[in-house]
Amino acid sequence: MKILFIGDVFGTLGQQALHTYLPQLKQQHKPHLIIVNGENIDKGFGIDEAIYKDLMSMGVSMITMGNHTFRNKKILHFIDDANIVRPANYDESVPGVGYKTIQFNDKTVTVISLMGRIFMGDPLDNPFKVIDSILDTLTSDIILVDFHGEATSEKIAFAHHVDGRVTAVLGTHTHVPTADTMIFPKGTMYVTDVGMTGAKYGVLGADKDKQVQKFITGLRGPVKETKEGPLQLHAVLLDTTFQTIEGIHIYE
Ligand SMILES: [Fe+2]
Repeated sequence: MKILFIGDVFGTLGQQALHTYLPQLKQQHKPHLIIVNGENIDKGFGIDEAIYKDLMSMGVSMITMGNHTFRNKKILHFIDDANIVRPANYDESVPGVGYKTIQFNDKTVTVISLMGRIFMGDPLDNPFKVIDSILDTLTSDIILVDFHGEATSEKIAFAHHVDGRVTAVLGTHTHVPTADTMIFPKGTMYVTDVGMTGAKYGVLGADKDKQVQKFITGLRGPVKETKEGPLQLHAVLLDTTFQTIEGIHIYE
């Protein structure tokens, strides 16, 4: 089975990049499933229902989230009925679920969202322990983990922890793609960070002028999305039959 996983889609330009490039990626690679990290798609913060429906209409099967899952509170109205997974290491009382299983032909595919704890700030449960309890309950043919984290060491250690027990660990959150697509010793496909989808010349998707000023003055202002300019799209293509993982990097 071929699975296309598209990294953190940021804001209006990120959504535009999907409309621009997804049709040709589908035609070229013929993925059976498309998964998108969508935690930044609503101007950088969360997702609303109109955007969710737009992604579904493009053929996206599942949306993973991260530290900005609940920044747009409108998600509370539809997350329980949506193909969205929020980090599984939130408390179980938090709306939504941390993993979902979908059926594709005779295969079951489980998509799990987890968040790292290093340099992330949020007081979430230990992802290394949470994944153990999730995997105890799963019998799926294919298990994919979006590990949303800042620290490269935490992501690599996590991949060793689950090596051979999940199909792939795909890092997200830093918005910068890494060149380490590989197969771990016991067979898990891995990349430290898939990279982002959105403005090519923003600062991780955000307006560059505002971000430069923040670093000059030390004052934090509101994060604004980049409104114009060329696009970038980063993704990985997994082939679970031939056990390959390949980075896809588009810069306009
Ligand atoms: Fe994030």
